[in-house]
Amino acid sequence: MNKNFPFTINPLPYGYDVLEPVIDKQTMEIHHDKHHQAYADNLNKILEQNADKQKLGLEELMKSDIAGIKNNAGGVYNHDFFWSVMTAPNTSKMSESLKVVIEKNFETVDEFMSKFELGGLGRFGSGWVWLVKTTDGKLEIVSTANQDNPLSDGRQPVLGLDVWEHAYYLKYQNKRVDYVKAFWQIVNWVKVEDLLNNS
Ligand SMILES: [Fe+2]
Repeated sequence: MNKNFPFTINPLPYGYDVLEPVIDKQTMEIHHDKHHQAYADNLNKILEQNADKQKLGLEELMKSDIAGIKNNAGGVYNHDFFWSVMTAPNTSKMSESLKVVIEKNFETVDEFMSKFELGGLGRFGSGWVWLVKTTDGKLEIVSTANQDNPLSDGRQPVLGLDVWEHAYYLKYQNKRVDYVKAFWQIVNWVKVEDLLNNS
């Protein structure tokens, strides 16, 4: 991704069909090539009219008080993040060291998963659920509306799930719960641990 104006999106880091059957190829094509691309295109269009903002990086733009800039910058950032924390089904396992950290913060892995699922299911309308690292190193589950990102209030995402209908509707229709529960099969735990330790 281009870190400055004009912004571009990262290519998908794997094939469109790699997440099947959890996320189908057509959903990935539309989600990456249409939705994600549109956030970058729209952001660039708005910045063309706001020359004073063209020098700002994506994280700054995500805090903009201009709604169009904030939402589209978040859309670019969040989706690049989302693709990076997924991998082919059942190919990634949580390491013992990550498990220890999760248990320290949530008592059990099951409790963590349940809280994350509830965050995704409880988000009314469009948004995201995140596992974040706070400034004092604790892990928390947070849900954000639209394309907001916890980074904007100082919390570092280490895992995120898009719960906009465009992320799951073709395959799961109204059953967001099935999509959220299936997500565990495609989490890239190596990436999550890397984000936890190095960001
Ligand atoms: Fe999305």
